[in-house]
Amino acid sequence: METTFLLNGETVRVASDPTTTLLDWLRERRGLTGTKEGCNEGDCGACTVMVRDETGARALNACILFLPQLQGKAVVTVEGLAAPDGTPHPVQSAMVAHHGSQCGFCTPGFVVSMATAHLNGRRDFDDQLAGNLCRCTGYAPIIRAAEAAADALVPGHLAAPPELPVAEADPQGTAFRPTSADALAEWYAAHPDATLIAGATDVGLWVTKQLRDLAPVAFLGGCADLKAITVTDTEIRFGAMATLTDVLEAVRPHHADMAEMIRRYGSVQVRNAATIGGNIANGSPIGDSPPALIALGATLHLRHGPARRSLPLEDFFLAYGKQDRAPGEFVEAVSIPRQPDRLKCYKLSKRFDQDISAVCGCFNLIVTGGTVTAARIAFGGMAGTPKRASAVETALTGQPWTEATVRAALPAFETDFTPLSDMRASAAYRMEAAKGMLLRYFHEDQGTSARVLEVRA
Ligand SMILES: Cc1cc2nc3c(=O)[nH]c(=O)nc-3n(C[C@H](O)[C@H](O)[C@H](O)COP(=O)(O)OP(=O)(O)OC[C@H]3O[C@@H](n4cnc5c(N)ncnc54)[C@H](O)[C@@H]3O)c2cc1C
Ligand code: FES
Ligand code: FES
Repeated sequence: METTFLLNGETVRVASDPTTTLLDWLRERRGLTGTKEGCNEGDCGACTVMVRDETGARALNACILFLPQLQGKAVVTVEGLAAPDGTPHPVQSAMVAHHGSQCGFCTPGFVVSMATAHLNGRRDFDDQLAGNLCRCTGYAPIIRAAEAAADALVPGHLAAPPELPVAEADPQGTAFRPTSADALAEWYAAHPDATLIAGATDVGLWVTKQLRDLAPVAFLGGCADLKAITVTDTEIRFGAMATLTDVLEAVRPHHADMAEMIRRYGSVQVRNAATIGGNIANGSPIGDSPPALIALGATLHLRHGPARRSLPLEDFFLAYGKQDRAPGEFVEAVSIPRQPDRLKCYKLSKRFDQDISAVCGCFNLIVTGGTVTAARIAFGGMAGTPKRASAVETALTGQPWTEATVRAALPAFETDFTPLSDMRASAAYRMEAAKGMLLRYFHEDQGTSARVLEVRA
């Protein structure tokens, strides 16, 4: 498959296997070894590159980014940060001045993340750099360096948006880059055994860790109509290809706690690639967006060729690894009804940042005149699928909104869930944590501070 993109200002046209990663190509074919391979699974940020297109600049992990995803875009690697005359980028100079590097292995990834944040005017450095791991320097000097460079001007060679190369249309072969949902629908109906590749934050690992051959494949990144997020008086509709970064920003004014939960979803690099459609379609029992969406009463929109159907999101997850999706059918969008914001999301993981949830509990209770009049509660990590706590909802609905009601409802968790023990948590811990989350929701609703960060402040 041929891909045309800008690499550090130079137009390149590459013929490659569709699942060649940018990292492998940079290091093995171009000799650009500044971009490092640490984990090769999206966790460490050593391979961070800046990718620019008409929508802006974002940091991405090159180890789980396939070359065809770069069609018509511009890539800046660590080798492209300094000015053409060799003057270091302000973040590079600041890293030297503030002793932000020791062994140096993580440093190229850090400076690319820092330069991307700098270009975008971001100063939330703890979040911006949460996807870059350093094992020797410690983060304080690195954050100091980022702060020190924040007011510097963006260097001239990065200031203007790049002139993006014009990419040619693909023939509809066994690797396909559709440019609309219609084209995808037609192709996928004819190739129902194909692998759809959205952000590749799951699929990338099938290649780098499991060495799987995925052909035939379709890359969905060119389907602009699948990226739209629309807010009307009655609903918020997320196109399947909306990234978690886009979802975070769009949902913040309506459901701030869902945005706060997404802030802890992977890292900037992961959220910039991962899509809401992928997070649903993969059927993971520990995906973070399904519990929040289910608690908000989401509807999933599926498409097969010209035919469309919609269903409550919770009904999509049939059993572990089994979803209500026919061959050749894909996720087109997910929508939530507009409603007063009563949602709280509790993501419990061993690390605060960049960690998959052990349990993710999302609560959306309507209380009218002191009585619970409606309840939607959904969990990840408590069953083989994302799942509603129906017995708990029933135990709460129609009851006075008091601690006594909440405590009386806790045994219903045992009816709803039989969690598993695994490396993230034991079954007993999961059950205890889920019950604690309901109590926490009650107390937060009464005005008690229960957030780690709030309590610390
Ligand atoms: C370092 C790291 C950290 C992570 N942290 C989190 C986290 O905190 N929380 C969390 O929930 N997840 C996390 N993940 C998992 C992953 O990011 C999500 O599951 C992500 O949303 C998948 O979306 P994607 O666009 O990358 O999907 P892809 O990897 O492209 O695809 C995933 C699956 O969905 C299918 N698919 C994609 N789009 C569609 C569609 N429109 N219709 C039908 N099928 C489709 C693909 O064929 C594939 O089977 C993490 C992953 C990594 C690598
Ligand atoms: S090598 Fe670790 S994120 Fe890519
Ligand atoms: S400087 Fe050694 S890992 Fe960061």
